[in-house]
Amino acid sequence: MGFAKDFVWGAATSAYQVEGAVNEGGKGKHIWDIYVKEPGHAYGGHTGDMACDHYHRFKEDVALMKEMGLKAYRFSIDWSRVLPAGTGRVNEEGIKFYSDLVDCLIESGIEPYVTLFHWELPYEIYKRGGWLNPDIAEWFGEYAKIIAERLSDRVSHYFTLNEPQCFIGLSYLTKEHAPGLKLPLNDTFLMSHNALRAHGRAVQMLREYGKQPLTIGYAPTATMCYPETDKSEDIEAARQMLFSVPQDINNWTWNVAWWSDPVIFGHYPEEFVKSYESYLPEITDEDMKIISEPIDVYGQNIYNGKCVRMGEGGKPEIVERYEGFPKTAIDWPVTPECLHWGPRFLYERYKKPIYITENGMSCHDMVSSDGKVHDPNRIDFMAGYIKELRKAAEEVDLRGYFHWSLMDNFEWAKGYSERFGLIYVNFKTQERIMKDSAYWYADMIKTNGGNL
Ligand code: FCB
Repeated sequence: MGFAKDFVWGAATSAYQVEGAVNEGGKGKHIWDIYVKEPGHAYGGHTGDMACDHYHRFKEDVALMKEMGLKAYRFSIDWSRVLPAGTGRVNEEGIKFYSDLVDCLIESGIEPYVTLFHWELPYEIYKRGGWLNPDIAEWFGEYAKIIAERLSDRVSHYFTLNEPQCFIGLSYLTKEHAPGLKLPLNDTFLMSHNALRAHGRAVQMLREYGKQPLTIGYAPTATMCYPETDKSEDIEAARQMLFSVPQDINNWTWNVAWWSDPVIFGHYPEEFVKSYESYLPEITDEDMKIISEPIDVYGQNIYNGKCVRMGEGGKPEIVERYEGFPKTAIDWPVTPECLHWGPRFLYERYKKPIYITENGMSCHDMVSSDGKVHDPNRIDFMAGYIKELRKAAEEVDLRGYFHWSLMDNFEWAKGYSERFGLIYVNFKTQERIMKDSAYWYADMIKTNGGNL
C-alpha cells in the first residue's frame, strides 16, 4: 500500500526564523525583535535580524524547493509585517512580500501552506496585554480576515496557531523564549484560553472571507507516546499516557488534550479541569462555541516520544531510556516509533485527517573538503521516521509530512548553533548548499517512499 499517490511531501519554516529584513518593508516590531536585543537571551547574542535573508532571496529558495521536488511549502506570516501595530493599518509592502512568495511557489508547482501564527506576537499587542487581554481573539480574527482577503484566491491551506504549548509555556512559565517571563499559573491558563479563542475566531474569519473553500487546521505539539510491545495492554498504556494530565504543574502546557480536546470536542478534558480548577478563568458556552469552530484537518508537530508500558497495578509507566540512547545534536532522543503511534492515537481520538506539520533533527553539519554537506545521520533519521510514518499512513487518514526545516535557520534561544535544515546556510555569506539529505529526500519524494 504505502503512501497515497497524492500524499503531500513538504518542508517548513517560520517567518522570524528565516526572513531577516526586520527593519524593512514597513514591518512593525514583535516580541522576538525586542527580546533578542537584550543580553543573555539568545545563544551568543544571536538575533533574527538577517536570519536566512529569505525576504530577499525567496526566489532562490523556491528554486531549491523545486529542485528537491517538494510538493508543498509550509511558511508562516509575520503578523507584525502585515499589521505593524497588530490591528488597524495594513502594511501593503508586507502583504506584497507574501503575495509574491505565493505566486512564485505556484509558478513552481509548489502548494503554499500558510501558518498564521508562529510566535511573532506584535509588540503593540503585547503592550496591550497580549494573550492576557481577551480582545486578542478579535485582533487575531481581524488579521486572519486580511490574510483571507489578500491571499485566499491562491492559498487554500491554512494552519492557525503553531505550538501553543511553546508560545505560552516556554514564554510565560519557563522563561526560555520571548518575552521571557514567569507568570502566575492562573495567568497562563487565561492566556491558553484566549489563545484558543483566537484560534477559533481565526477559523471563523478565514471561512467567512475565504475566496474558495479552504482547508483549515491547527498545529500543536507535545511528546508522543508509543508502546513498548504490541501487546494490547501496552498500547492502551501509551494511549492513556498520551492524553493524560502532566505531572509537573510548572510545565503544565506540555500536553495534548488541554489544547486539542476543546478545539475538536468543544470542552476541556474533565481530568484536567479537576486538576486545574483553582487556576481557571471564567469559561463561557460562547467561548467554547468559538474555540470549537469546526476545522478540516489536524496538524501535529512531532519530534520524539516516550516509550510506555502497562505497569503492575494497571498503571501506565515510562520505560526508562538506556544509557547512551541515540540523540540528536540538540539532545532530543531519536524515537522513530512516534511517527507511527502519534498519528494513530491522534486519529483515533480526534477523527480528523492528519498532517505532520513538523519533524526533523539538528546535526553538527559542516561543509566538507569536497564542498558538499554530508549528513548521513539526518538521512538515517528521516528513513527511520518515515518508515514508521508509512505504517500510520496505512492505518489512518494521513495527508502529508513537512520536514523541519527547509533550511538551517535562527533556532530561537539556540540562535544559529543548531542546524535543522535540508539546505545548509552559510550565515556569513548566505550561500546555500543542498545537503545529502536534501538529495535523499528528493529521491524519496520522486518514488513516494520507494527508497525507504
Ligand atoms: C519547533 C518549532 C520550530 C523549530 C523546531 C525545531 O518546536 O515550531 O519553530 O524551532 O521546533
